[in-house]
Amino acid sequence: MIKKKNLYHPSSTFKKNAWVKSKDVYKDAEKDPVKFWEQLAKDIHWKKKWRKAFEHKPPYFKWFLGGKLNFSENCLDKNIERLRNKVALIWEPEPADERPRYFTYYELYREVNKFANGLKKIGVKKGDRVGIYLPMVPEAVIAMLACTRIGAIHSVVFSAYSPQALQVRLQDTKEKVLITADGYYRAGNIINLKGNADEAVKDTKVKKMIVVKRAGNEVKMKKGRDIWWEDAMKVKDNFCKPEEMDSEDPLFILYTSGSTGKPKGIVHACGGYTVQAKYTGKWIFDIKDNDVFWSMSDIGWITGHTYSVYSPLLNGGTFVLFEGAPNWPSPDRWCQIIEKYGVTIFYTAPTAIRMFQKYGDDFIKKHDLSTLRILGSVGEPIDKGSWEWYFEKVGKKRCPIVDTWWQTETGGILLSSLPGVGPAKPAFAGRPFPGIKFDILNSEGKSCKAEEKGDLVILPPFSPGMLRGVYKNPQRYKKTYWSDFGEKTYFTSDIAYKDKNSLIRIVGRSDDMIKVAGHRVSTGEIEDTVSKSSSVLECAVIGIPDEIKGEVPAVFVVLKKKENQIEKVVIEAIKKGIGPIALPKKIYTVKDLPKTRSGKIMRRILRKIFTGEELGDLSTLANPESVKELKKILK
Ligand code: WT7
Repeated sequence: MIKKKNLYHPSSTFKKNAWVKSKDVYKDAEKDPVKFWEQLAKDIHWKKKWRKAFEHKPPYFKWFLGGKLNFSENCLDKNIERLRNKVALIWEPEPADERPRYFTYYELYREVNKFANGLKKIGVKKGDRVGIYLPMVPEAVIAMLACTRIGAIHSVVFSAYSPQALQVRLQDTKEKVLITADGYYRAGNIINLKGNADEAVKDTKVKKMIVVKRAGNEVKMKKGRDIWWEDAMKVKDNFCKPEEMDSEDPLFILYTSGSTGKPKGIVHACGGYTVQAKYTGKWIFDIKDNDVFWSMSDIGWITGHTYSVYSPLLNGGTFVLFEGAPNWPSPDRWCQIIEKYGVTIFYTAPTAIRMFQKYGDDFIKKHDLSTLRILGSVGEPIDKGSWEWYFEKVGKKRCPIVDTWWQTETGGILLSSLPGVGPAKPAFAGRPFPGIKFDILNSEGKSCKAEEKGDLVILPPFSPGMLRGVYKNPQRYKKTYWSDFGEKTYFTSDIAYKDKNSLIRIVGRSDDMIKVAGHRVSTGEIEDTVSKSSSVLECAVIGIPDEIKGEVPAVFVVLKKKENQIEKVVIEAIKKGIGPIALPKKIYTVKDLPKTRSGKIMRRILRKIFTGEELGDLSTLANPESVKELKKILK
């Protein structure tokens, strides 16, 4: 990388070998984005070609209409023709003394085919939803791909979510089948996942549970309902014909937090998602046959779908799936993994980068990280200091950093400078992916000037991989994404600005969502959960800065009755309702919360008191005296 002023440009050797090396690709795509995506779409395997590339009926849009394909066929069958014996998946278990597992493309193909037939045997059909509540084990990848093979719609739920959080999702999608495991390792402990699943399926439609044996912990198998994975795999036929899917058929649903308490099921479609997942990976991570791609994200998140698993497969790459935490049992576990497998592309979140940084550079010096050639960041804004540390200490000033902006809703990266074109600028995500039209709008709905902050929006034709709806909730789809600037403008809920070179920097969310360690957590969802406790009258949650995690929740409660153990009550409620990711850093008991005359809690005021900012006009408050008490407590 060559540094000029504050911009980083790819070296000529990097450029020479990169899939994309010239700015021309942007110009071509801009002229006709639909035609541009059609060019890319030609490179995936269609059983039948589309008749129309794009259709817009605001607020809905479709891509590659009439096209037929199968996702698993694109990930497996098509690669086997060329890469039959190449390792597709390397699984690194958490216990460092346990043996890794390797799957060649052919082996993965075999397992997926068998499991797909296993699913069929218990009655799963095209269009059925299947719940997946699994840790980071190869069976998770096999299960996901097997669903796509038979046209079942998978809904993966993060394995650290609580039984209640799983239950809400199962109830929304009405799954009849749930795939889970006995348990898994996390920081040396065994987590009893099956116990959680048993609790969650009460009051749901789940009729069958397939259980992977992973940790060997004792579980109760319910007769007639529960089946061990290996038994589900006992099928007569090793081959399962890939179902012919329409381009616009749903491929999967993934829940994400929204402003209200209930999570939303984001729906992605077969054709567009495949094209976008393949090409964003190919161009942004420059995936080649010899690469070893390690994305640290759990499969329970969208990054875990698109880049920990699917994009490497669509590109015939090799990827690492790691069961544990990157700093367990020692702070340099992540370096050991890079060294052991010769990882070439490493993708993680600023939270992890800040954590690595805190341990000091000595850990890194002990390891050979020379195989790395591209570094990625995702999930939250990366500060300049962490960017530079990542660049210098991990990438040794050789590796381009791609700061990739996207969302569960966009299905794949839509904003990131391309590594072979550049330039990269610390703390800036950079340029929109070719063919994507972004704008930044001020309060009047006009385009912002350089350096002026505003709302980040996406304009038609959007992107092939973006969401097609919120599962069974068209009102919520319209209201969340298409009401602020009209039905033809997708609102991201992010604030951003452009510098004078048109590079985009993401400032943060403009809604009630906070990013805890890169994961989206809804303050409304935490409030709902805490408010259910019998001793809590009302509650408000805000995000406060945290050195490692970026942001963490702080909870303010007003009590209904005396409660000496309010901290414990709040923590238990959050663990039960959501899971450990939403646990607060601070819990305050207050007499009153600042409210408008119509009774709305002013989180904005709480945030300002916390950070010591100027409060401005308080005349709209119904209870200005609440501010005095808060100021005293937070001093
Ligand atoms: C929100 C989406 C899809 C990635 C994992 C998170 C924030 C994401 C960046 C980035 C600054 C980022 C945005 C976005 N975000 N990537 N590179 N720089 N902010 O997915 O949970 O759906 O959250 O994450 O605020 O809206 P998600």
